[in-house]
Amino acid sequence: MCGIVGFTGNRNASSVLLDGLKKLEYRGYDSAGIAVSGEQGIQMDKTCGAINKLVEKTNDGATLEGKAGIGHTRWATHGAPTDENAHPHLNKDESFAIVHNGIIENYSQLREELREFGYEFQSETDTEVIVHLLDHYYTGDFRIAVMKTIARLEGSYALGVLCAEHPGEIYAVRENAPLILGVGVEENYFASDVTALVANTKNVIYLEDGQFAHITADDISVFNAVGSQVEANITRIAWDIEAAEKGGYDHFMLKEIIEQPNAIKATIEPRIQNDEIVLDDLAFGANELKKINKIVITACGSAYYAGCQGKYIIEELCKIPVEMDLASELRYRNPLIDENTLLIAVSQSGETADTIAAMKECKARGATVLSIVNVVGSTIAKLSDYVIYTWAGPEIAVATTKGYTTQVATIDLLAVYMAKQLETISDERYVELIHSIRQMPALVQRSIDLNTNIHEVAKQYAQKDSIFFIGRYSDYAVSLEGSLKLKEISYIHSEAYPAGELKHGTIALIEDERLVIALACHERLFDKMMSNIKEVKARGACVLGVALEDNREIFKEADHVIAVPNIDPLFVPIAEIIPLQLFSYYVALENGCDIDKPKNLAKSVTVE
Ligand code: G6P
Repeated sequence: MCGIVGFTGNRNASSVLLDGLKKLEYRGYDSAGIAVSGEQGIQMDKTCGAINKLVEKTNDGATLEGKAGIGHTRWATHGAPTDENAHPHLNKDESFAIVHNGIIENYSQLREELREFGYEFQSETDTEVIVHLLDHYYTGDFRIAVMKTIARLEGSYALGVLCAEHPGEIYAVRENAPLILGVGVEENYFASDVTALVANTKNVIYLEDGQFAHITADDISVFNAVGSQVEANITRIAWDIEAAEKGGYDHFMLKEIIEQPNAIKATIEPRIQNDEIVLDDLAFGANELKKINKIVITACGSAYYAGCQGKYIIEELCKIPVEMDLASELRYRNPLIDENTLLIAVSQSGETADTIAAMKECKARGATVLSIVNVVGSTIAKLSDYVIYTWAGPEIAVATTKGYTTQVATIDLLAVYMAKQLETISDERYVELIHSIRQMPALVQRSIDLNTNIHEVAKQYAQKDSIFFIGRYSDYAVSLEGSLKLKEISYIHSEAYPAGELKHGTIALIEDERLVIALACHERLFDKMMSNIKEVKARGACVLGVALEDNREIFKEADHVIAVPNIDPLFVPIAEIIPLQLFSYYVALENGCDIDKPKNLAKSVTVE
């Protein structure tokens, strides 16, 4: 969704801003713009469509001169994706420019008020009120105008502000929307995402909600909401720019699929020390855990499906009931949650609006909130009582792969850790489980290596217009994620069903040549799955079976087989999803889809 960048230094800002915006493209957007302040005052250009259009329009930034500037990629919410609605927005005499991520909830009221003062609006956006408020409150002191303006705003906002009378200076403001400052040498930056900063600097400051910063080429000063200066801690980003580049792969998605053994290793290795799971980030032990009588897992999209895996393993090992609740539903229910509930919020970006709202709802009811998050310093991480980072590194493709598997790996670690604390597993089982967790990266690699023919298989089925996934137990949860991956990037209709539910309706849709992907990786349920496979074959379906590598039986019924390495049944999902990710990737490739940036989707859904 929307992204913002800012720069001030001793070189032309435009090209730095355009480069930063290109790094934010992956978040999803429909228009882009930049504004710079320099000797000519503020100069601005914006356009709907791709950033390359803006690059062309500005002759790679050369048409705009100024050493400080702000930029924006917009994903339309209030108002269509038009040039007028694109950011930056300017006031009438072009003395202020702003970019904004988030939503100003009281914008209608502010708009009316500003109209009475004679302000005219050029766009349909909620954002435009901000630039007129700045104009209204400005009497020569840039900081006072910013403070008075933000005091009037309700909602979520990360802002970048330029003032023509103060060239070289930028204000950056954060309230419930991500904003990170980059500390350089004789130049400084801000962005909504570290991927836009890391090519220039690895030293960052995570602004807190309610804080704002005054940024010049030589200095960054951070203030709280009442304008008192506060200490700003500089953190070093742990990964390099290469991590956010394609590195020879055709798509980020393929790179991220192949990176999974290493990403999972980074998640688990530091947390297994001397044959014990050590969750330094989790300061609660047996006493706190024993008070928990229910776990609720909430999330959206793939993170929710990672949570679905969590239900199986946590209930199995910890004997605590686990409820799954989609964040967008949980936030509007009257959930039965109290101080004995542990809420686990799962999110790659840490910025998903519904997940944040669901967490706040549960926190208000007394739940302890533990989050599993990839992006350090994100809103969800900050709102939680405890955070376990997945350490997956930057994920650029919109369709998550390593983000999802590292969430599953983290939940697996957590489940085994909690079971040990609660003494619901024996010491022998604990040792066995730790041994299997250690093998995960190698088994995920084997999952990639075992299925070298997956492109060929995908080619044969790429023209299908509807594909069903079936599975039982945790195979069903993997089906949900496999099916989501396929529809996200290939736009092929797909649904996932618990195999036992087939007869209750779905089987009516099975006809000649329909593809059914049948996940059958649990030995104890294998015969049941074989019956389901026979049922769909009897109605003309083609079957792509997914089974453990030493299973020969599946070949009797399936037209093609995807092999999954042998692993403790509790950890099968992490190995099983890999070939399904590859299958989706190659189906989308065969269909010429825009794999990394599928239509209508955003990487981080920061609005409801
Ligand atoms: C979007 C992304 C999905 C992601 C979901 C939740 O829909 O496209 O890949 O699973 O949001 O995002 P989160 O960042 O909270 O994991």
